[in-house]
Amino acid sequence: MKVLIVTESCFGNTSRVADAVAAGLRSAGAEVTVVEAAAEPALDGVDLLLVGAPTHNMGLPGPASRRQAATKGASPASTGVAEWLDRLPTGFGGRAATFDTVTGTGFFSGSAAKAIQKRLRRHGVAVVARQSFVVTSTEGPLADGELDRAELWAAGLA
Ligand SMILES: Cc1cc2nc3c(=O)[nH]c(=O)nc-3n(C[C@H](O)[C@H](O)[C@H](O)COP(=O)(O)O)c2cc1C
Repeated sequence: MKVLIVTESCFGNTSRVADAVAAGLRSAGAEVTVVEAAAEPALDGVDLLLVGAPTHNMGLPGPASRRQAATKGASPASTGVAEWLDRLPTGFGGRAATFDTVTGTGFFSGSAAKAIQKRLRRHGVAVVARQSFVVTSTEGPLADGELDRAELWAAGLA
């Protein structure tokens, strides 16, 4: 099974989750590529697509929120998951799953993964799973055990 993980990260936490997700999928025998959304990856030959981003202002990062992150010491790419999804071609026939990082798990935290799910569905892509992983503050680090949880979650997806 060919898996593509498309991600975006300002402080590195979502990238670390993406790497743990990749490890989980590889442990289950999948062939996995992790790539930043800004590199504009194509979906040719992909069976399972995973898309992950940090939660900004209850949804996906955009130009303004990336600038805000940069004022706190982040080095975000100029574009990310939202822009990549806007240009997603229709007709992807594989399955998809989404993930994000959040500072809290309550209703008011919002979820980038939920926003990604909505946009994928608009493109006709079936989203089979969604998961959030907690960071202890805006800059991180991830809460204890979250990387292990990401790896286990991904192994289950394969
Ligand atoms: C501008 C901005 C807005 C944010 N808004 C939210 C939010 O609405 N909900 C939340 O749980 N975390 C929010 N956060 C915290 C991010 O989720 C956190 O920085 C991110 O998960 C870290 O991941 P990264 O290292 O991959 O950037 C925000 C962070 C920034 C910089």
